Amino acid sequence: MKVTVNTFKEAKANNKKVTMITAYDYSTAKLIDESGIDSILVGDSLGNVMLGYEDTISVTMEDMIHHGAAVARGAKNALVVVDMPFMSYQTSVYDAVVNAGRLMKEARANAVKLEGGAEVCPQIKAITDAGIPVCAHLGLTPQSINAFGGFKVQGKTEMAARKLIEDAKAVEAAGAFAVVLECVPEKLATLVTNSIGIPTIGIGAGAGCDGQVLVYADAVGMFSDFTPKFVKKFANVGEMMKQAFADYDREVKEGTFPTAEQTYKIDESIIEKLY
Ligand code: KIV
Repeated sequence: MKVTVNTFKEAKANNKKVTMITAYDYSTAKLIDESGIDSILVGDSLGNVMLGYEDTISVTMEDMIHHGAAVARGAKNALVVVDMPFMSYQTSVYDAVVNAGRLMKEARANAVKLEGGAEVCPQIKAITDAGIPVCAHLGLTPQSINAFGGFKVQGKTEMAARKLIEDAKAVEAAGAFAVVLECVPEKLATLVTNSIGIPTIGIGAGAGCDGQVLVYADAVGMFSDFTPKFVKKFANVGEMMKQAFADYDREVKEGTFPTAEQTYKIDESIIEKLY
């Protein structure tokens, strides 16, 4: 059954957790979809994980459309949420609606995600008014990394904590169907969760959120450039891949791959005629 924004609404109403994980390609999206996870986020973290950038600033609309479309082709049931990249919505409400529309039409997203609180509420309202579901993103918002001065836990002062709660209420009022809370102390994230009617999806925000999201490459041990404290490695696929590549290299070089099992045959009389 296709997960929709209504599934998120019902989950909050029934106190059921929602799951989200990132993907950036067709094959991974298919595996995630088959696992039963509710939602796939085509995060602009693809800049780090897939493209090798230091941050998400350089990610373009074309990157998001290219990867978003691949994920959408692999996701039959999971709700596909595609990130709006840096400067695709901050510049104006008009740009925000046009670019959100492109993610729906060209990437076949089911929803879009953008970063920020009260300052982007006009964009959230205009995009939702255009019939496009919006997931908000508060706390550590990586597109503002240069303003934050680094990857730091957010909302730790009274003023910052109050602003986070106000921003969460503002994005809900503007029409967001869910809000990601990134790198927020657990008790504050729980307070936010209990203060709004839309699901909070935590990443580094503790168990009190309505759901959780992780970067898939972190969760399966495929990305080693940096590992935040909030990551749990549910598998060590990176090590398994490295071992498989080394085995392949060795077997080709020592002549034990390919064998008859991986080889096509031809009638001997045909070969004889070729000499
Ligand atoms: O880009 C991304 O992967 C994200 C998650 C970390 C929430 O925004």
